[in-house]
Order: sequence, then C-alpha cells, then structure tokens
Amino acid sequence: MKKIIFSLFVALSSVTTVQAADANAGKEKSAVCSACHGPTGVSASPMYPNLAGQNDAYIIKQLKDFKSGARTDAMMAPMAANLSDADMADLAAHFSGLPSANEQAAASAGNGESTDSAVATAPAGNVEIVSSTPAAAIYKGDVAAGKDKSAACVACHGADGNSLAPIYPVLAGQSANYLAKQLADFKSGERADPVMAGMVANLSPEDMDDLAAYFAVQTAKTGTGEINEAGHKLYIGGDASSNVAACIACHGVSGKGVKQAGFPGLTGQSQEYLTKQLVSFRDGTRGNDNNGIMRNIAIKLSDAQIKDITQYITSLK
Ligand code: HEC
Ligand code: HEC
Ligand code: HEC
Repeated sequence: MKKIIFSLFVALSSVTTVQAADANAGKEKSAVCSACHGPTGVSASPMYPNLAGQNDAYIIKQLKDFKSGARTDAMMAPMAANLSDADMADLAAHFSGLPSANEQAAASAGNGESTDSAVATAPAGNVEIVSSTPAAAIYKGDVAAGKDKSAACVACHGADGNSLAPIYPVLAGQSANYLAKQLADFKSGERADPVMAGMVANLSPEDMDDLAAYFAVQTAKTGTGEINEAGHKLYIGGDASSNVAACIACHGVSGKGVKQAGFPGLTGQSQEYLTKQLVSFRDGTRGNDNNGIMRNIAIKLSDAQIKDITQYITSLK
C-alpha cells in the first residue's frame, strides 16, 4: 500500500509540477548513459539518439516503455530495468535541461575548438569506445612514470599486468579510468581489501593516474577457458525471469568493457577472481560500484548462474 501511495505521489507530482525531479541527481545517475548517449547528451554515434534538450515528459515515457517492454530494444531494456520512477524523472530533468546538439555545435564552433569528444563506434554490444584525441587525453597519467612506480606491483600483478596467480586480477589493457578509480577506492576504504589497502596507502592521485596509464597500455592475455552455453546466454541476453541485465550492454561483446565509461574489461580474468567479485557485489562486501550498478545485478544471480557466467567469461578472447 505504501508503495502504491508513493508511486501515485510521484506520478501526480510529475504531472502537476516538476519539483519532484532533481536535475543534479539526474546528472549523477546519467554516468551509465553517457557511454552511448554522450557525456553532454549528444551521441557521437548515429546508432544512439541525442537526449540533450529533449522534452522531459517524452524521455520519461520512453524509459517507462523500455522498462515495461512496450518499447523493445536490447540495449535500453537492461538500462531501464533498474530505474525507479524518481530516477526516470531525475534523468529526464537532467537531459531536457542540456543545450541541444545544434546549440552545442554552435557554441564549440564559436570558440574555435575542434570536437575532441569521445566517439562511440559500433553499437549492439560492441560498444568499444575510440577517441579522436591522442592517448594523453584518455590516459591522464604518464605511462613512463607509471612503469617506474609499478615495481611495487610486479610481485602479484606481473611486470606487464598479466598476473600469474588466479587470485590476482589482470591489470593489462584494463580501462585506465577504472584502474584509477579502484586505486582511489582501495585508499578511501570504499573497496575493502587488506592487501591492496597497504599498497595504495602512500599513493597520490597522480601516482594512481600514472600506474593506471601504464597498465592500461599493456597487452592483456586472452581467455583460455572453455565456453559455457548457459553462461553465454546469460551474458548476451540477461535473464528475463529474474530481471538480470545482459552483461554485454556494459562489458561488451568480447568482454573488453567500455574504457572511457569506466566499465571494466573482464576478458583474461580467472574464474576464481571473477567469482569472488560477483559474490562480493551480491553480499555487498564490495560496494564501490556507482549507483549500485553491479550490486543490483549480482543480487539476482544464483550460485549456479555465477558459476556458468564466470566459466563463459574465461573463454572470451
Ligand atoms: C549501451 C548503449 C546505451 C546505453 C548505456 C544507454 N542507452 Fe538509451 N538508447 C540506446 C539505443 C540504441 C537507443 C535507441 C533504441 C531504439 O532504437 O529504439 C536508446 C534510446 C533511448 C531513449 C529514447 C530516445 C528517443 O528519442 O526515443 C531514451 C530516453 C534513452 N535511451 C535514455 C537512456 C538513459 C536515461 C540511459 C542511462 C540510464 C541510457 N539511455 C543508456 C542505447 C543506450
Ligand atoms: C601482495 C600482492 C599484491 C600487490 C603487491 C599488489 N596488489 Fe593489487 N591486488 C591484489 C589482490 C589480492 C587484488 C584483488 C582484491 C580483491 O579480491 O578484491 C588486487 C586488486 C587490484 C586492483 C583492482 C583490479 C580490478 O580488476 O578491479 C588494482 C587496480 C590493483 N590491484 C593495482 C595494484 C597496483 C597499482 C599495485 C602496485 C602499486 C598493486 N596492485 C600491488 C594483490 C596485490
Ligand atoms: C549497466 C552496466 C553493467 C552491466 C549490465 C553489468 N556490469 Fe559488471 N560492472 C559494471 C561496472 C560499472 C563495474 C565497475 C564497478 C566499479 O567501479 O568498481 C562492473 C564490474 C564488474 C566486475 C568486477 C570487475 C573487476 O575487475 O573487478 C565483474 C566480475 C562484473 N562486472 C561482471 C558482470 C556480469 C557477469 C554481468 C552480467 C550478469 C555484468 N557485470 C553486467 C557495469 C555493468
């Protein structure tokens, strides 16, 4: 009953006034969306619509329809599945308040800047992000300085970030944004690990960026595990019966992640490490994922599903 009253309240207030929606909260929640719709709501790929300057009521209706299945799209269904009415209103307030694509183009033409924004290329799960900017813009840190600083990491993560023992994650080729975030999270305690806490205690933000840059440009080894059919299905299609989002939407068709969005690559990680992370997201002992993006997914996974999906991921090349 409480729930009904609450959703009535949200529905009424979004009709009569937009006060319930919070554009700033929407901006925070939109981090996931930017991988495809662009950080300013203007998409760099013709496969993804612009959201900047769109009418807010229209955005809300589309999100509701993707969630209910009235509008079907393999990429948007998992995105909308976890959004509450309040999330939708906040996101709509954020995107509708952004200057439209034409206004943004006029503004950047005005100050003579080239469009150096990230370019999202191929759609349909293959959302690898390439950038027209030099590597320096992607890897904030200094690769050479990172190499020097990485001496302390070699014992566990290997000289080139390809760890030898299955309990140590592979860092080679990982998203630099993601790596830097993990190091900061280990330091703040948001991601708890007694071993890594000691490693990062004396690292400055600059050290973290340098280390992230160094490991990000190393070549990752590919998976050598056997394919698992049930895991494959779950990876590409999710599980409609328990509302599990498809991993492919964020981790990519070959498990390489979406680098600039900070969605990590999973390819090359051991089944042991992957299992530990999914179980930790599920029981909340790992809670450093923004907006609970992974906790909301892992909580719906059974032990058997975790076994299947981690086995499948080890087969990705
Ligand atoms: C993996 C890529 C991807 C991500 C991430 C993503 N979207 Fe989308 N979105 C799409 C695609 C593709 C479409 C077009 C679907 C279609 O063809 O019907 C779309 C369509 C939409 C539409 C309908 C636009 C219109 O003009 O009809 C809205 C609204 C929307 N997305 C909002 C969001 C929000 C909010 C988020 C974040 C919570 C998000 N999207 C995340 C790919 C994505
Ligand atoms: C004594 C072994 C050890 C050393 C040395 C070590 N690490 Fe780690 N590292 C680990 C373990 C174990 C984990 C996995 C923690 C978990 O299970 O959540 C980890 C996790 C990480 C992660 C998270 C990876 C992911 O995919 O989420 C990063 C990033 C990382 N280490 C970077 C470093 C850097 C940079 C150094 C050197 C400054 C370093 N580590 C030194 C053992 C070590
Ligand atoms: C909506 C986007 C999204 C979807 C869908 C998604 N993930 Fe993730 N995943 C993330 C993000 C973001 C992180 C990193 C969180 C953080 O900052 O620590 C992550 C982290 C992970 C990690 C930890 C990686 C590491 O190196 O420690 C694993 C394992 C993982 N996801 C597996 C999965 C599986 C399996 C599925 C499908 C059942 C899935 N994810 C679906 C966004 C997503």
